[in-house]
Parts: sequence; structure tokens; C-alpha cells
Amino acid sequence: MDVLSQSFRVLGDTTRLRILRLVAQAPLNVTELVSLVGVAQSSVSHHLAKLKGLGLIREERQAGFTYYSLALESDDSRWPLVRLAREAEDAAGDSARLSDLLRAREDRQALNERLLEPGQSWFLWAGALASLLPPLDVADFGCGTGVFSRAMARWARHVWAIDQSEDALSQARTLALRDELTNITFLREDLHRLSLSGGRMDLVVISQSLHHVESPAAVVAEAARLLKPGGRLVVLELLPHEEKWVLERLGHRHLGFSPEVLEAALREAGFTSFTRETHARDGASPFRVFLLTGVKPS
Ligand SMILES: C[S@@+](CC[C@H](N)C(=O)[O-])C[C@H]1O[C@@H](n2cnc3c(N)ncnc32)[C@H](O)[C@@H]1O
Repeated sequence: MDVLSQSFRVLGDTTRLRILRLVAQAPLNVTELVSLVGVAQSSVSHHLAKLKGLGLIREERQAGFTYYSLALESDDSRWPLVRLAREAEDAAGDSARLSDLLRAREDRQALNERLLEPGQSWFLWAGALASLLPPLDVADFGCGTGVFSRAMARWARHVWAIDQSEDALSQARTLALRDELTNITFLREDLHRLSLSGGRMDLVVISQSLHHVESPAAVVAEAARLLKPGGRLVVLELLPHEEKWVLERLGHRHLGFSPEVLEAALREAGFTSFTRETHARDGASPFRVFLLTGVKPS
């Protein structure tokens, strides 16, 4: 009885009733409630504390904000109060404002996912920075379906996308056509023995392909042959790992590389001025990538 009479007393306030009715429709934070009921934040916080004190609402932390929602179950003796509050006339137009607020929240979320999700913005950043480069002739060794070839074609003079798999190349060709990229030449060749003449590339990229080839040293030597003096090699590879299933299931021939060993192979092929960077572990993935670059001396 006590709780019921206290609840009557606490709800004998129009703003409090409006707040209860709003949080019964959707979890809301203080800022949102301030914009909906149009009273000062301190006043909203005071009302929320009263409602929470009686166990009418609960609070929950989400993405750095505290959200308030209805805590009452329908078998609580005070449930009729909530029902009455919901059915009462909405003279202040709270429901319409709440619908607008929830729609704006969804739009923001969708926009965030489409445009501002880190993967997307980093991709745009990479494109923006690359657009500052002079027009380069680039070879993409083991291009697969051409994700990098197409990204590089947006700023390169010309890209030679090389792979031994006709399947992968045909997908890469279709995607390049879709993106209206006309500066890519697709070559179906073995990276150990390329038909391209030497000394013509500004940049060779070998992304996650060396662990597939029989002789990484021979492929790195082909990269050195194709590059102009002063040209650069960029290798993206896996660190050593124990996932032996990749040998049979994915056709890997090497369980990653130690960056030092790979750098020694590049040095052997004549490269100098190395940079090495290891990427942070990506979630629970057993694989970790590193980037190694070298320059063919002028
Ligand atoms: C894991 S995919 C990498 C695709 C792409 N570079 C990327 O990073 O998304 C490795 C590619 O290397 C190609 N490859 C493996 N051995 C090769 C060889 N000896 N000659 C040419 N391509 C080869 C495979 O066909 C495959 O498409």
C-alpha cells in the first residue's frame, strides 16, 4: 500500500508523467528527454531520480550514455498507472517529437555505419593521400580479384595486375569494368617468370601472395628486375603462425614469414632503405600482418 501511495504522489506531476510515458516507449538518455519535454537538465535528472527511487524506471549504460527505460512489469500493482499515463491526452505532442527523435537516431546510426565506420574512413584517407603521388607505373603481384589493383588504378598511371588464376583474373576484369577503370592490364602469368621487360615499374606491390609461391626469393628478384632504379617494393605478409590447415585448404606454401628473414631476402635481391611495420592483432584472428618496404638503389 505504501509503495502505491508514494507512486501516486510521485506521479502527481505532469512532467514526471510525461517522462514515464516517454521512457515506456523507448530507452532515452537525459539529453534526449530534455529536448522532448523542454525543461532544464537538472529538473529532468531530479524527476528521473524520483521515478528510479520507486523502481518505476531503470538505467542502463550504452556507448557512454545512460539510458532510462520502464522497469515495471505488467503484473505489478502499479501497472494501471503506466497504462493511464500512456492513454492520457498528449497535449504537448510528446509522441510526435519522440518519433522524430527515434528516426533521427536511426538515420545517424545508418550514416555512421555507411560513412564513418573506421574501415571506410581509413580507405578514403588512403585514397586521398595516394592522390598526392605523382602518376606511377605499378605492378600488383598476385592481384587476386584485384582489390588493390583497382584502388591503385585510381591514382596510378598504369597498373599491371598479375595472377596465375584465370578465375580470380576474370572477376578482377569484371570489377574493373564496373568501376570504369581503363588503366589496368591483366596478365595471367607465373610470378617466378614474368614476360614484362625490366626497369619499367615505379612500384611493385606484393600483398599476401608470397606465402603462396614456391620460391619467395625468386619472386622478390622478379620485383627487383621489373623496377626502375629508385623504384619501391611494398610487401604485405603474415607473421609466422601455426595454422597448418591453410596449407591444404587455402593453398599456402609458407606459414607466414619472420620480417627479419624476409628483409634479408629483399637485401639479397639488391633492395636497400627498408621500413618495417607490424599491424596490431585484429580481434581473435590467428593471423597478424606486417608491411615491409624496400628501394631499388638508383
Ligand atoms: C591471397 S591472394 C592475394 C590477393 C591480393 N593481393 C590481396 O591482397 O587481396 C594470393 C594470390 O596469389 C596468386 N598466386 C599464387 N601463386 C602465384 C604464382 N606463382 N604466380 C601468380 N600468382 C600467384 C593466387 O592465385 C592468389 O590470387
